[in-house]
Amino acid sequence: MNILKEFQELIPPLTNEEYKQLESNCLEEGIREPILTWNDYIIDGHNRYNIAKQWSLEYKTKSKTFNSEDEVKEWMILNQFGRRNLSNYQRSVLALQLEDVFKAKAKENQGARTDILAKLPKSKSIDTRKELSKVAQIGERTLGMVKKIQEKAPEEVKAKLRTGEVSVYAAYKEIKKEEKKEQKAKQIQLIKKQAKKFENSDIKIYNKDFRKLKIEDSSIDLILTDPPYPSEFLHLWKDLFVQAKKILKPNKFLIAYSGQMYLDKIFNYAYEVGLDYYWTLNIEFTKKPLVHGRKVLNEWKPILVFQNGLKQHDRVFSDKINMNYTEREMHDLNWGQTVEPFEFLLDRFSNTQDLIYEPFAGTGTTLLACKNTNRKCIATEIKTDYIDLIKGRLK
Ligand SMILES: C[S@@+](CC[C@H](N)C(=O)[O-])C[C@H]1O[C@@H](n2cnc3c(N)ncnc32)[C@H](O)[C@@H]1O
Repeated sequence: MNILKEFQELIPPLTNEEYKQLESNCLEEGIREPILTWNDYIIDGHNRYNIAKQWSLEYKTKSKTFNSEDEVKEWMILNQFGRRNLSNYQRSVLALQLEDVFKAKAKENQGARTDILAKLPKSKSIDTRKELSKVAQIGERTLGMVKKIQEKAPEEVKAKLRTGEVSVYAAYKEIKKEEKKEQKAKQIQLIKKQAKKFENSDIKIYNKDFRKLKIEDSSIDLILTDPPYPSEFLHLWKDLFVQAKKILKPNKFLIAYSGQMYLDKIFNYAYEVGLDYYWTLNIEFTKKPLVHGRKVLNEWKPILVFQNGLKQHDRVFSDKINMNYTEREMHDLNWGQTVEPFEFLLDRFSNTQDLIYEPFAGTGTTLLACKNTNRKCIATEIKTDYIDLIKGRLK
């Protein structure tokens, strides 16, 4: 009697416990069920055969007749469905193997189908899936997830799925997350490749600390920016206000996205420097992050408006920005913000051909908004890695 690897691999392995139970049953009661074979290959009873060999137990064999290896596989899989207490993952893996068998058979038979799918229209793989899901008693969605897992998950994850340590949904979610990350990284690479094509005399980007950029006094029409919010960056806000006071034209604005956590300090810095507080705008998050240390579900972000010399603005603006804030183009890999609110702010607080300054360019959202709304812009970004990304976005 022989073992064919392809057949053996169709049998979901027993857990150690299950194997020990089977072994003690065989030792107590002997091997009662015959080991089934086809062409002298075992098709049912691989474990019992192993136990018999190890303990020199007697066993019977019974041979079955099939027309092809594929027919044997189909029978073996359906046999497993009927007999064992399999997990959803194991049932799905078997169902997918059955799908492969059907595909192979369909190719071979070209219409002379005898299996359970013979009644289905050939081209509709979706119906095949439905039928498989019935046979395996597994939802079609789960089958779809397991298909992806079988294609993409590393062997150690599959091993954990077999033992139930990881659920099908968790493994699937992990794969989707990785795929998204890869896709994003590719997208960023593509944008960076476009950097060479960047040429725009109205937009200047410097790879340096904003505090080292020389800007003429009273030359800037608007500072529009999104500084880093964590406490270790707070001192930058003060430096920004000092610089703003010098370079902003009289009565012009500094507008900065901000977090809520350190507003007291930020307002204090502005006051110390002599920048006037004008207003706070509100932009809502569609996702609501939990702020650790405060137990707040954060639903909105303040956008702070300061002025270099308090004077009523020459136009009306709404202080709630009703724009989708979830679709942050670059967000998964860095701190990018959506471009539309920046365009809105440029429209309300500056004029075409005005000179805008963005000290914390990040992925270049402000610069893109300036380009789109026909403003001039000078910007700094300390991270070299972002420069090509910015240029690529602007090309
Ligand atoms: C909140 S992010 C800006 C994100 C940007 N709004 C966007 O849409 O991508 C702040 C940026 O400031 C940069 N930065 C931090 N300190 C800086 C400094 N001293 N000079 C210039 N850039 C700095 C960081 O590298 C980061 O990219």
